[in-house]
Amino acid sequence: MTQDKRTGAVLDYYNAHPISEQQILEKLQRDGLNSKDLTEDILQNYDQDHYGGTDANDALAELTGLRESDHVLDVCCGLGGPSRYLAHKYDCRVTGIDLTESRIVGARRLTEMTRLDGRVDFQTGNALSMPFEDATFDVLISQEAFCHIPDKGQLVAECARVTKPDGRFAFTDILVTPRVTEDIRTRLLAGMAFQELNSTESYAATLEREGFEVVEVQNLAEPWRIILSERLKMYRGLKDQTVERYGQAHFDKWDSAYSFFVGLYETGELSGGRFLARRRPAT
Ligand SMILES: C[S@@+](CC[C@H](N)C(=O)[O-])C[C@H]1O[C@@H](n2cnc3c(N)ncnc32)[C@H](O)[C@@H]1O
Repeated sequence: MTQDKRTGAVLDYYNAHPISEQQILEKLQRDGLNSKDLTEDILQNYDQDHYGGTDANDALAELTGLRESDHVLDVCCGLGGPSRYLAHKYDCRVTGIDLTESRIVGARRLTEMTRLDGRVDFQTGNALSMPFEDATFDVLISQEAFCHIPDKGQLVAECARVTKPDGRFAFTDILVTPRVTEDIRTRLLAGMAFQELNSTESYAATLEREGFEVVEVQNLAEPWRIILSERLKMYRGLKDQTVERYGQAHFDKWDSAYSFFVGLYETGELSGGRFLARRRPAT
């Protein structure tokens, strides 16, 4: 598959994702909440597109020792749920970047609604080539997104470039175990737009090679196994909305790909990891 086709597959996947700005606003309305009075304390329960909700954001904040004076880059920020949460709770400044324009449009609108746009801003862009100066950010975070990015060496090098010396980089991602087969990787590429999946060891080696020192790695296989089966139920609960918006065939294709993915956590082919790395000062 060419680079353009791979990028196109990720865009198609997120432009038709069951979690969207529209779906969030509809759910708020169904719960009797008026978007005019929206606050981050409310929205944070609706807009997190990763595993573990706001607790997962706190885990990254704690790992990095997040401070008010930090400028954070949320790499692959999606609709901006973690960006808003961190800015609101830790009083820091956050910039989010995402490949999918519709995600950034939604992120900006949701941020204006919660009046956090003075401290949180967003840009459309590819994490493999980011529109930021060298050594701009104190902290980089990312959640459940690097699986969609094909070249982890280039990705980590680009993350290193925009991080200040001694800056902190904390992220979570879907990982493979030695049990994963080529056939499984191919199905995950077709069904979930996962371009390249790494193991704990290959990530650690890439981080060390591209300018970071690995400080800590946490194994998330078991908590994610539990979270993912709940998430599958949640997506199935959105069936009517998804069918109405994208059609039955889309829902069936999505459901089949997602349940295959979730099953791989039950059988141990997939795992998850939370990494903390520190940017080595230039020598
Ligand atoms: C599972 S969502 C995570 C969103 C967000 N991190 C959160 O936790 O709510 C993954 C996001 O990665 C973005 N993405 C995928 N490939 C990317 C790339 N090469 N550069 C920037 N963003 C990318 C997608 O557009 C999508 O919004």
